[in-house]
Amino acid sequence: MHTSVHWDVIIIGAGPIGLAAAWNYAREHRDHKVLVLEQHALFTQLAGTSGEERHWRLQYSELEIFRLTLEADKLWRQLEQQADRKLIHRIGSLWFGDADVWTNEGQIRQTMLSMDEMRLPYERLTMREIERRYGFTGLDSNYEGFLQQDGGVIDVKGTLASLYSLASEAGVEFQFQQCVKAVEPDARGATVLTTQNRYRARKVLVASGPGSKKLLRQLDIELALSTYEMACISMLRSQRLGANDPFWFAFQPPVESDSNLFYGFPPNPWSVNGFDRLGTDFEVDPITEANAPGYRANPQHVERALEFARRHMPFLEPDKQHSAASCLAVLPTDPARQFYLDSAKGRCHGGEHLVVSAGGWAFKFTPLMGQICADLLAEREPRWDISALRF
Ligand code: BEZ
Repeated sequence: MHTSVHWDVIIIGAGPIGLAAAWNYAREHRDHKVLVLEQHALFTQLAGTSGEERHWRLQYSELEIFRLTLEADKLWRQLEQQADRKLIHRIGSLWFGDADVWTNEGQIRQTMLSMDEMRLPYERLTMREIERRYGFTGLDSNYEGFLQQDGGVIDVKGTLASLYSLASEAGVEFQFQQCVKAVEPDARGATVLTTQNRYRARKVLVASGPGSKKLLRQLDIELALSTYEMACISMLRSQRLGANDPFWFAFQPPVESDSNLFYGFPPNPWSVNGFDRLGTDFEVDPITEANAPGYRANPQHVERALEFARRHMPFLEPDKQHSAASCLAVLPTDPARQFYLDSAKGRCHGGEHLVVSAGGWAFKFTPLMGQICADLLAEREPRWDISALRF
């Protein structure tokens, strides 16, 4: 094993946050050497960035996170300009269900109050209006919801490809199939050990999704994170073709087997296959060392999603044609926390040379969190209030 060239910054993980951090840091420090290490390939389906799309929303129940989405919105628009590519399709974000049920995505009633406070426009809708407008059937008549017009769907692969190109143009180097086994910070920087190599850097960012917890535990940094393998099912749409349907999320009281939360993307605007994607947001059966990810959707969760579609979405054909995939979600165990992003200063020996971004449904924050990571790597106070992210 040899120590290759010394780097100014090493980023562990070529997911959205790692790529955005690499690009932001490199374009602000043209003479610095930046390396991204990734254990899989760029468009891997084996981690947290599998699938085609992610939800884009401005609204949050928590005001401190809500404020950050408004900042992320500005940076997405800049990123789209720089990449010369549309990355967010603002088809709207429809939330419906029991307005009083608290979930890991927040609560409908509190979110409406937060939108009022932030003066973000939305259209409040009864369940009858939602059924008439968007074709759902058989949902509890006491349900209600809203449409937030600026929400929508993020193009996952378009975002990754854009950030990879921008980072490469800014001089970032990449090494794929490099599985990091340990990070060893010290008084002058940090050593990164992979199965094949030993690297040395002044600063290191750990942004490796499901792999981060293990790396941090070796440094006695215990982040309360749980990893879940969530199901996402593609189903053929046979009616409402060409309807301008929004992304939707159904907030329902939990049932014995799971949290009973479902969401869906209509056929996405950048592909032509005509499939809806229906996901389960079930925080059950966390991945442990004994229970490694199978990279396949849990059949019971698939059946729950098919059942939701059979009962409530008559414009889909769940029994004619469907295919299931899974996505790893690393989420803070504490429901009051959404994300962890901070310098590890004071957390371990040499922690001032380590930045950590771990956990949460963070894709929507890609350009913002990338910039915050770049600021922390440059030992600069981020220009936004990140107290809700720090650990
Ligand atoms: C979100 O908006 O954060 C989200 C949407 C669908 C599933 C999980 C999270």
